[in-house]
Amino acid sequence: MKRKEGFKMLKKVGILANGGDVSGFNAVIRAIVKTAENHGVECYGIIDGYNGLLKKDFELLSTAANGEALGILPKGGSIIGSSTNSNLFNYKVVNEDGSVEYKDLSDQAIQNIKDFGFDCIFTLGGDGTQKSARDFSTKGVNVIGVPKTIDNDVACTEITFGYNTAVSVAMEALDRLHTTGATHHRIMVLEVMGRYAGWIALEAAIAGGADVALIPEIPYDINSVVSKIENRRKRGKNFSVVVVAEGAKPKDGEITIMGTRDNGAGVDNTKLGGIGQKIAQQLQELTGLEARNTTLGYMQRGGTPTAFDRVLSTKYGTKAMELALEGKFGTLAVIKNGKLDSVSLEEVVGKNTKIGAVSGNTEESNLRRVQMDDDLMKTARDIGINFGD
Ligand code: F6P
Repeated sequence: MKRKEGFKMLKKVGILANGGDVSGFNAVIRAIVKTAENHGVECYGIIDGYNGLLKKDFELLSTAANGEALGILPKGGSIIGSSTNSNLFNYKVVNEDGSVEYKDLSDQAIQNIKDFGFDCIFTLGGDGTQKSARDFSTKGVNVIGVPKTIDNDVACTEITFGYNTAVSVAMEALDRLHTTGATHHRIMVLEVMGRYAGWIALEAAIAGGADVALIPEIPYDINSVVSKIENRRKRGKNFSVVVVAEGAKPKDGEITIMGTRDNGAGVDNTKLGGIGQKIAQQLQELTGLEARNTTLGYMQRGGTPTAFDRVLSTKYGTKAMELALEGKFGTLAVIKNGKLDSVSLEEVVGKNTKIGAVSGNTEESNLRRVQMDDDLMKTARDIGINFGD
């Protein structure tokens, strides 16, 4: 394909996927590679997120007959891996004597980028990934971000890739819970992901006809949920379906934690989980109806992307490559008013400006949470979904 006028001369670009995986990683990779090939640009996968930059672990990606990026559109996971603990500005180093230190190894990564001759790095990831991308950009690296996460909480964009697939999985689970719940006259609770933002719970509740949705943005009162279930019972409906985000918490209470994870220093290392079981137990005691919990977990992240996510991921991939060709580095490809657009990574990190100190999932993170005046909230309330408030 002829290079469009005004487009930058790029020879070699790198793609990294970072953070918890989602369905659609491969679709974005494929779209970047295809668009790059059409402009005579060579693409490399950077293996296991930012770790690959440190280890110089690069793999040629092409859609040629035997290429790595061929036939990957429907594939779950990431053909170039991903990492949840690779903040190179605050990197965990285990010394020979077993002691642990956190070091800033970003300069080494930058040297590797220069040595290999990357003209641009695409960073596919959530808020932590884009925080690091912004930090590299501040240090002069050409970076373009693509917003990923099933939680749909990346700032400055209306939707992240991977989210729609997670909602679809949750919707299917709710459909199935409905029939078994109705048969046995039970309260069926579904715990879904959503650490700080309740988008999955909210949208799945609408799509899957749940009676109650508990989200991190609205601390709940269990008595409000009980009233909703009792009202249904009075109208002859002796089963109910409740969807709860893992990050939901009671009024005057705390989030429910399963344990800890090791995503490095400076991030929220709590491993959420268990709220569904807690709510099921409480509702059983308070209503006298049998209640059961199902925790959906990583089912929401694995497997093939929906048609919507394949298209969104492809749009994001092509836009990201276009931004690179236009030389618009230090930006994130976004959807704004329903259209592809871009914003500066500075805007994405918000007030979390200190280089390297923290990556993602912290109090400082600039996350997009459910707003009370969002159309989805209004729709949900209009059809009587209870939020425990
Ligand atoms: O941020 C996405 C997410 O799926 C959260 O909803 C969840 O809390 C977290 O990742 C779990 O991540 P992991 O167990 O992979 O560290």
